[in-house]
Amino acid sequence: MKILGIETSCDETAAAIVEDGRKILSNVVVSQIDIFAEYGGVIPEVAARSHLEAILPVIDKALKDASCTWDDIDAIAVTYAPGLLGSLLIGTLTARTLAILHEKPLYAVHHLKSHVYANWILGDQNSTCPEFPILALVVSGGHTQILYMPFHNQFEIIGTTRDDAVGECFDKVAKILGLPYPGGPAIAKAAEDETHPGDPNRYILPHPKIDGLNFSFSGLKTAVLRTVQKEVGVPISYPSYKLKELLSKEQVCDFAASFQKTVVDILCEKIRKAQIEYPDVKGIVVAGGVSANKALRKALPEAYYPELKLSGDNGAMVAAACFFEIESGVKPTDPYKLNIYPRISIED
Ligand SMILES: Nc1ncnc2c1ncn2[C@@H]1O[C@H](COP(=O)(O)OP(=O)(O)OP(=O)(O)O)[C@@H](O)[C@H]1O
Ligand SMILES: [Mg+2]
Repeated sequence: MKILGIETSCDETAAAIVEDGRKILSNVVVSQIDIFAEYGGVIPEVAARSHLEAILPVIDKALKDASCTWDDIDAIAVTYAPGLLGSLLIGTLTARTLAILHEKPLYAVHHLKSHVYANWILGDQNSTCPEFPILALVVSGGHTQILYMPFHNQFEIIGTTRDDAVGECFDKVAKILGLPYPGGPAIAKAAEDETHPGDPNRYILPHPKIDGLNFSFSGLKTAVLRTVQKEVGVPISYPSYKLKELLSKEQVCDFAASFQKTVVDILCEKIRKAQIEYPDVKGIVVAGGVSANKALRKALPEAYYPELKLSGDNGAMVAAACFFEIESGVKPTDPYKLNIYPRISIED
């Protein structure tokens, strides 16, 4: 079964064709990172306009790269939630129109399910499938959750962030340190700088006191801010955007490494705790943009990770998730009625 997956929930316009949920035939991603690096973050209206320009050429290229015509496509899958309203609209309206035009069944896929199912796609690392029951650690730009997955397409949220998402925290801390957007890769790079590899033990940052399997990252971001202010000898009223002028390269690398280590330790602690609370679990999968983080991959080596090119937003994971939804008995949606839901939970 060949599924065309379409993804436009944030700032990547993406389309891919995946066979039987695991084999990528094509995977086209047009990122808007260059546009938003200038602003230090995503501007929703600009993202929607960029999707509008890119979406049809991206889908055409996905078909061409896979040597497919519309006759070869068995279904269309599209991200309908959660994400930026305008961005979701461009993807879903395009998918609805194409489904009607080419008479293909249309499936609406939740973005976090897609991130999780990136782990089922075949690649250099992933030749086997994770075994159920599974714990899924979702660490992305907008979400931080631990999901219990007894079987395909069944998700229970057993831990979630009370405030910032972990990717968001990477992005905010990068700003304090004067590193570019997106902050995750920039912090990871500074922590492993060639001329000054960051010292992960130079700055001691607190672990949030939050019970159970939940997370909190806004306190950690503030702790970095206060520690930087103290380090460079300015009061807490000093504007955060000016701190970068006072930090040396060595300090930036050491802050990056210390922050990254603290985040990785927090994530690993919670996963270990979840393994104790759910002793029947046989596999761990890590999903979302932060799953690209090498320090995390090293600290939790027994987990499954998506191929690096599939850790951020892409259409292949949407097509993969759709395949396993169909296998679980999910029916197509009405292309005349499909709505978008910017904030809906994976459990709804
Ligand atoms: N190597 C890395 N280390 C840490 N964080 C990373 C790395 N690479 C990317 N990230 C972070 O991943 C996030 C982007 O991930 P993703 O594309 O999954 O998020 P999103 O789609 O914007 O949000 P969501 O999936 O929650 O809707 C950014 O916050 C980015 O800084
Ligand atoms: Mg995402």
